[in-house]
Amino acid sequence: MTAQDSSPLMTLTWTDHVTGRQGHLVVDRLVRGVSSGGLRMRAGCTLDEVTGLARGMTMKEALHYNPEGRYIPLGGAKGGIDCDPQDPGAYGILVRYLRAMRPYIENFWTTGEDLGLTQDVVDRAAAEAGLVSSIQAVYPLLDDEATARRRLADAFAVEVDGIGLDELAGGCGVAESVLATLDRSKRPYAGTRVAVQGLGTMGGATARFLARAGLTIVAVADVKGTIVNPAGLDVEALLAARDAYGTVDRPAALRPADLELPGDAWLSTEAEVLVPAAVSYAIDTVNQARITARWIVEAANMPVLPEAEELLAARGVTVLPDVVVNSGTNAWWWWTLFGDIGADADEAFTYTRRSMRALIDQMLTRAEADGTTPRAAAHAIVADRLPVISERFGWYR
Ligand SMILES: NC(=O)c1ccc[n+]([C@@H]2O[C@H](COP(=O)([O-])OP(=O)(O)OC[C@H]3O[C@@H](n4cnc5c(N)ncnc54)[C@H](O)[C@@H]3O)[C@@H](O)[C@H]2O)c1
Repeated sequence: MTAQDSSPLMTLTWTDHVTGRQGHLVVDRLVRGVSSGGLRMRAGCTLDEVTGLARGMTMKEALHYNPEGRYIPLGGAKGGIDCDPQDPGAYGILVRYLRAMRPYIENFWTTGEDLGLTQDVVDRAAAEAGLVSSIQAVYPLLDDEATARRRLADAFAVEVDGIGLDELAGGCGVAESVLATLDRSKRPYAGTRVAVQGLGTMGGATARFLARAGLTIVAVADVKGTIVNPAGLDVEALLAARDAYGTVDRPAALRPADLELPGDAWLSTEAEVLVPAAVSYAIDTVNQARITARWIVEAANMPVLPEAEELLAARGVTVLPDVVVNSGTNAWWWWTLFGDIGADADEAFTYTRRSMRALIDQMLTRAEADGTTPRAAAHAIVADRLPVISERFGWYR
C-alpha cells in the first residue's frame, strides 16, 4: 500500500458554537465519489478513534465486493461526536453537527446509526438539519431512485419478534461468523457458552441469533454492569426489558438465579466465545490476561487493542476481526438499496448468512495458508481488492 492509500482523504474537527463540544468526520476514501460510515456519539470520542473506524469502513466495503452483485462498494468514512448520548443537550448537538456536515452528507458521505445513536434519532435529526436523508449522496448512483428508496423504507418497516430488521441484520452476520467458525472447528452449538458485552443493536441481535441457534448465553454486560447465569440467561426477556440506549431494566427481567456482577465481569466469565459488542478498546494488555475463552468475535468496532491481540494469539485465543464480523449491517443497507435483496427478513437473513459464511471461510483459509491471524488475512484480502475496485470504478465521479 502506498502512503496515499493509507492516509485518509479528508479529516475534519467541528466545534459546537453553543457548547464548545467537538465532533469529527473522517473520509478515508471515495469510490465513484461516495463514502459510507455511521455516526457515533460517546463522551471521549477522539479523532484517532474516528480515523480508525473510517479505515475499517473502507475495508468492510471492499470485503463485500462481488463483481456480479448490483451493490458496488463505496469508500469508507465515519463521524463521531464527543458527547454522552444521554446528556440532555445531546440531541441539539447532533442536529447542529449534522447541519454543519450538510455539504458533505449531501454530496459524498452516507451515514447512519452507530454506538450511542439509533437510526430513528439520526433520521429525525437529519430532517431537522434540512437533509433529504442521511444517505442521499448515494442516490445519483441508483438506476431507479424512487423504487430503491421505497424498498429500503419498506425494509426498515419490517420487524421480527419486536425488533426492526435494520437492527437485526448486523447481529445476524455476527452470529453467523460465530457459527461458521464453530463448524470449521467441528464444535457443536449445544453446550457452547457465550458472553456478550453490550445489549444494544449489535449485542442484542447477536445474542438473539446465537440463543436461537442453540448456544447458551451465560453473560451480558451493559453500561450498568454484567448479568450472569451459568445455566443460561433468558435472552428474549432481557431484550424486551431494554430502554432506547440498550440498558436492561433489572427488576423487570432478572430471574432469581441471574446474578448481577460488576461491569467487567463478562470478560472473565467461563465461556468459549466472547462477543464484545459495545465500546472500542474494551480489551487491553492488562485485562486480556483474565480471558479464558477460545474465540473473541468483534461485533463492536476496534474492541481489542493490537498489543492485546498479540498476547491473546500467543496463548491460542483467536480474534475474529470487526472488519469482517460486523460488516453485515452496512452491507444489508446497500444490498437492499441497490436491489440485491428485497424488503423481506428471510431473504435478508439468508443472503447475510451466505455472504458472511463465505467471508469467514475465505479469511480463515487465507490465515491458515499465510500462517497469520484472521485480522492479517482480512487485511491481505482487502489489499488485493482495493486496487481492483479503484481501477474499475475510480475515486471520483
Ligand atoms: N449499530 C450498527 O449498525 C453497528 C454496525 C457495525 C458495528 N457497530 C459497532 O458495534 C458497537 C455497538 O454499537 P450499537 O449500535 O450496538 O450500540 P448501542 O448504542 O445500540 O448499544 C451499546 C450497548 O453497549 C452498552 N455499553 C455502553 N458502554 C458500555 C460499557 N462501558 N460497558 C458495558 N456495556 C456498555 C450499552 O449499555 C448498550 O447495551 C459499536 O462499537 C459500533 O461501532 C454498530
